[in-house]
Amino acid sequence: MSSSTASRPLFRAIDVIRNKRDGLELSRAEIEGLINGYTRAEIPDYQISAWLMAVVLRGMTRAETAALTDCMLRSGEVLDLSLLPGRKVDKHSTGGVGDKTSLVLAPLVAAAGIPVPMISGRGLGHTGGTLDKLESIPGFNVNLSVAEFRRVLETCGCAMIGQTAEIAPADRKLYALRDVTGTVESPYLICASIMSKKLAEGIDALLLDVKTGSGAFMKNENDAAFLAGLMVETGERMGKQTVALITDMDQPLGNMIGNALEVVEVIDVLRGGGPADLRELCLELAGWMLPMGEVSKTVAEGKQRSAELIASGKALDKFREMIALQGGDAHVLDDPKRLPQAQHTMSIESTKEGYLAAMQCEQIGTACVVLGGGRERKEDSVDPAVGIVLHKKVGDKVAAGEPLATLHYNSQARAQQAKQLMEASFQISDAPPASQRPLIHKVIEHSREKN
Ligand code: URA
Repeated sequence: MSSSTASRPLFRAIDVIRNKRDGLELSRAEIEGLINGYTRAEIPDYQISAWLMAVVLRGMTRAETAALTDCMLRSGEVLDLSLLPGRKVDKHSTGGVGDKTSLVLAPLVAAAGIPVPMISGRGLGHTGGTLDKLESIPGFNVNLSVAEFRRVLETCGCAMIGQTAEIAPADRKLYALRDVTGTVESPYLICASIMSKKLAEGIDALLLDVKTGSGAFMKNENDAAFLAGLMVETGERMGKQTVALITDMDQPLGNMIGNALEVVEVIDVLRGGGPADLRELCLELAGWMLPMGEVSKTVAEGKQRSAELIASGKALDKFREMIALQGGDAHVLDDPKRLPQAQHTMSIESTKEGYLAAMQCEQIGTACVVLGGGRERKEDSVDPAVGIVLHKKVGDKVAAGEPLATLHYNSQARAQQAKQLMEASFQISDAPPASQRPLIHKVIEHSREKN
């Protein structure tokens, strides 16, 4: 054994797993060894799965979270977009059901003159993923090289890709593993996952949409605020302007859930229509992004300008341009029937008259996964055509026998399982709900606690 090998401390993944299991604080070297070893395929999935579960159960300190984010960020290239004029701004959601705002926001904000370099994820747990939605557009390529990503961004002002072997490769692998091992719901892992890929993008400012409610990973507002604080603090530490909006996910956003179905709803919004909650949230998020990109002075002005960009068709034109540049069939914007269509539909009807008092939103997301819209195992492919169309939102009056939702499916057995989940997720009461939850719960602009 050479002297340099002998003096290097022995790294064993099993020791790091046991230390976390026993509640010890991990050193940066331990975290680095694990992340680098996994990225290079030297540590197997099963060991990382065990470690991830220990993190979910034991948590992480601020120092561990910072080290994890940093190691994941440095697992690949960190883009330098400083030669591209203007402030680069992006947004990221912590994950929801029917949350398709990224597909509206990238072209909308780019149409306002702000470059949007967006690195997104696939479906995660019961939530949908931007990449899976984009891939339902025939030909759309989310696996661009860094050079191609830059070219699309420079040409049209926005580009949307996934984590690659070059950018955030550690998140690419960990994300896929967490999806199928019940290890998503940790604020520390979510923070490191989101911030590592966002900080690799070369942005100046980041808007975070932190979801709360029965369809979110953070079910209550306090947990969402904690996660938002962690991410805002991480962004600030890295010198990026970071703002978090805590927004509602107690029922699906919009009416459509499922990859191609959600693209249809995105097209509706970019054409000036679409469901009110989705349209409102898109305008609110764009309203924040415009002043962050310094093209408007206030959020109200940003919202107004965004509404104009939709009304004039400029946001839709930008989406058309980006789809074509990334190899997709841009004719879907004029003829959404070119998107994948499921072979069958099934109606879910109300068994009684009353008001829709609540929806178990996570269960609705799980119903979409069961239909084939998400993954049960890492190697699964998603069925872009399947999903759910809701006909009622919380607070709506319902007659006995009236359709609450329609399932779009390709497998009878899967549809039966999804139907059971859907039926159990609707709560019908005699009286209307006493109050409606707000769409925006809170804004967090500066991290508060630091230790
Ligand atoms: N979005 C991400 O990119 N990562 C997570 O862990 C959750 C949501």
